[in-house]
Amino acid sequence: MKYGQGDTTEGCHVVLRLWVRNHITDRVNAPIRRQLASLIPSGARVVEVGCANGRLLLDVGWRVDCALGIDRDAPMIDAAIRSARRRNLPHLEFIAADARNLTQWLRFRPDLAVASLSLHEMPPRTAVAVLRQLALADTVLIADLVEPESGLQRALLHADEWIAGHLDRYRAYQAQGGMPALLEAGGLAVRQMLPTRNPAVRIWVCAPHVH
Ligand SMILES: C[S@@+](CC[C@H](N)C(=O)[O-])C[C@H]1O[C@@H](n2cnc3c(N)ncnc32)[C@H](O)[C@@H]1O
Repeated sequence: MKYGQGDTTEGCHVVLRLWVRNHITDRVNAPIRRQLASLIPSGARVVEVGCANGRLLLDVGWRVDCALGIDRDAPMIDAAIRSARRRNLPHLEFIAADARNLTQWLRFRPDLAVASLSLHEMPPRTAVAVLRQLALADTVLIADLVEPESGLQRALLHADEWIAGHLDRYRAYQAQGGMPALLEAGGLAVRQMLPTRNPAVRIWVCAPHVH
């Protein structure tokens, strides 16, 4: 097969993104991941939306019953599939797809659903549609952004979102009431809100509203 310059550039971009995810982002987010992992009971059936390279599910994979990770970023999902094979975790499944179609891919009823730092990136209607599907689980763990109190931390968060190309989305998310408003619209009741080591991130432990 003959490769054009576009393929090479795209290939380099994928390699760079995977490198940044494995060597920088995953390290920076390690405390949040550990905190989320501590809230996932052994033997659970878990679904995660926006799982990227699957790091959280791979970390708890040895002690969960089964898990599905879904992300629309195909190269990240390919990396997750390779890692699961390397670690001999065949009960972890990773699917490259839009999380709006989550239920189409679920082959088990999850006890626990997770979305870590992914919902604020989605258009609000998508985030609500995704949350309504996560509400199939008994417990839903959401780690996501809050506006930090300190001006410096706020500036750093906005700069980070700008670099990631999500600043407009983040602003819209905050303007519409942030995560509490999304959770309400998604049919989830907050049981606990936990601080993390990152002042811009909280964890909400939720359960579906009983109607
Ligand atoms: C900031 S990353 C977070 C990755 C990981 N959960 C973590 O905590 O480090 C957000 C992820 O959400 C994914 N994402 C955003 N919108 C999505 C959608 N509609 N469907 C599936 N994945 C989505 C992105 O592809 C990205 O991998």
